[in-house]
Amino acid sequence: MTRLVGLSGSLRQGSFNSTLLRAAAELMPDGAELTIATIRGIPLYDGDLEAAEGIPETVASLKEAIVAADGLILATPEYNNSIPGVLKNAIDWLSRPPADIKRVFGGKPMALVGASPGGFGTILSQNAWLPVFRTLGVRFWSDGRLLVSRAHTLIGGDGALSDEKTKEQLRAFVAGFTAFAQSTRSAHSAG
Ligand SMILES: Cc1cc2nc3c(=O)[nH]c(=O)nc-3n(C[C@H](O)[C@H](O)[C@H](O)COP(=O)(O)O)c2cc1C
Repeated sequence: MTRLVGLSGSLRQGSFNSTLLRAAAELMPDGAELTIATIRGIPLYDGDLEAAEGIPETVASLKEAIVAADGLILATPEYNNSIPGVLKNAIDWLSRPPADIKRVFGGKPMALVGASPGGFGTILSQNAWLPVFRTLGVRFWSDGRLLVSRAHTLIGGDGALSDEKTKEQLRAFVAGFTAFAQSTRSAHSAG
């Protein structure tokens, strides 16, 4: 079984990015599953809090979920043509302490998707993540790209992704990323 974890960068109940991630979980290929984790409850990063109390439990358990997973998918909104602060804050906490970065993120297959009501489907936000991933040493999957624009027009009254074309793009995306995560794991266990 190939196990992926998905994180949405939006806390909004009706989030298009969370909708996209839930749809991805439904469209996973046989032999793979996508578990949706949350950034809810992660405090704002504060070095004094870290020094006094260590890593918050919400962060520590998310770190272990990532360690145990074969790959991580971020569903990122775009705010002011860049990364949304709440998701960056979560990744910043997950990168603490620095001695743990390699264990959590080093060589970890990662992929990005994003949805926006605008016409460019989070392209600038997705690009803005790349230096962060480089710094963390993840294995970023760049073969597929999913930029969901006009997201509000693609979701049905039940709050689920209803647009068939987007679903097919998402199905192909998760199939490609799953194969990548699987081959990365096989390469590691062989080596
Ligand atoms: C502070 C802020 C800045 C935003 N900036 C952009 C932007 O630069 N580009 C864009 O496409 N949408 C932008 N939006 C609109 C978001 O794409 C929209 O709110 C979207 O629904 C957020 O993702 P979610 O549905 O997963 O919460 C912005 C929204 C907020 C709140």
